[in-house]
Amino acid sequence: MSDLIRPPRGTFDILPEQAPMRRAVVETARATLEDAGYRRIETPAFEVTELFTRTVGEATDIVQKEMYTFNDGKGRSLTLRPEVTAPVMRAYLDHGMHKLPQPVRLWYASSCWRYERAQKGRYRQFWQIGAEAIGSDDPAVDAESIALLAGILSELGVGGLELRIASLGDPAAREAYREVLRDHLRASEGELSDEVRSRLETNPMRAFDSDHEGTREVMKSAPLLADFLGEEDREHFAEVLGLLDAAGIAYEVDPTLVRGLDYYTRTVFEFTSAALGAQSGVGGGGRYDGLAGQIGGPAVPGMGWAAGVERILLAAEERPEPEPVTTLYVATADESPATRRAAFALVCEARRAGITAQMELAGRSLKGQRKQSDRIGARFTAIVEGETIVLEDREDGESWDEESRSAAVASVLRERGLG
Ligand code: HAM
Repeated sequence: MSDLIRPPRGTFDILPEQAPMRRAVVETARATLEDAGYRRIETPAFEVTELFTRTVGEATDIVQKEMYTFNDGKGRSLTLRPEVTAPVMRAYLDHGMHKLPQPVRLWYASSCWRYERAQKGRYRQFWQIGAEAIGSDDPAVDAESIALLAGILSELGVGGLELRIASLGDPAAREAYREVLRDHLRASEGELSDEVRSRLETNPMRAFDSDHEGTREVMKSAPLLADFLGEEDREHFAEVLGLLDAAGIAYEVDPTLVRGLDYYTRTVFEFTSAALGAQSGVGGGGRYDGLAGQIGGPAVPGMGWAAGVERILLAAEERPEPEPVTTLYVATADESPATRRAAFALVCEARRAGITAQMELAGRSLKGQRKQSDRIGARFTAIVEGETIVLEDREDGESWDEESRSAAVASVLRERGLG
């Protein structure tokens, strides 16, 4: 098998034994979010490239080096979604959702693609659960959104959680701040990493994210955005924190918090888990009041978050999953067409009656079929031979001869409290 084609680096198969855990993550998100008025949305896997360059931002890692971009047959540039917030806002505008009662709350469980350095917890195709509340700039929307993610993560048993939060203010305050920060960086340019130096003009705030020793030293005395916020943004942030306090949600205000996307305004936050290694971000998000305008829409405020399904699973306590149950195993005593048809009819009848059933499909001997029935833990085994069905109940060793076929078998099962 040395020539066997392998999957692309940074991607993975989701095997049957992993499906229940993943389903539990999506189901917990669904239940929590739908109880809070969110409704599910699913956008296309690919979008017009501009949707991301304009919103996520030209200077970000995502746009500069992580997007899977290709031309379609007509030479239009398309991109596999690296995130879902911009697509959801596009859909909100496209479908006139501003006419609905606001805020419109939407949730998703969607795959994303980023050409990142692959390692544990960081993949090139990964899944996000996420929630977006569009159409209100009320600080309660921010606090509610954060509280819902906190609830989902704790229900899923994600350990060692910490919440960091900050406010980025409005774009004008941020630009004024960036200029001051650039001056600070330029004053010690020689001590900075090459990467930070090359981004000094376009994205100086990324310097807070650097693990380069010289850069970290320079950043210790850097000016902080928090000191540049306008009055309204300060009040908005204070209210968000007050609401989190009221809900008993612990957080740390971290004015150096950097998110890798440019569309944020005001609140930004991130949950990290001590149970994860280098890729400790489990979920994060923030407010994006300028995003709709960036894609040609009216000014519509929005707030949301996304969390990585794989990171949640890495950080969550292992929980045993119940095995799926098959109630009825239908064995065939011979290979005759009459027997196979009767067996097939029985499986279909049982399923219609709501009884989980499987039929022999591998040409096993009768002994082999009994073993298979044991293996899958079926309580009942039906042995079909021409017109006759013998039904056995493993629990009490009883058996019946059912000459009147499948309907009678289904009624025996029903009498026994099944289906
Ligand atoms: P993000 O922080 O880029 O935010 O991604 C959110 C989450 O997706 C991360 O916390 C992480 O769990 C997961 N994630 C990101 N990249 C990878 C990767 N390469 N492999 C595995 N997991 C990954 C956003 O995407 C924003 N759209 C969040 C948001 C929603 N902001 C407002 N609304």
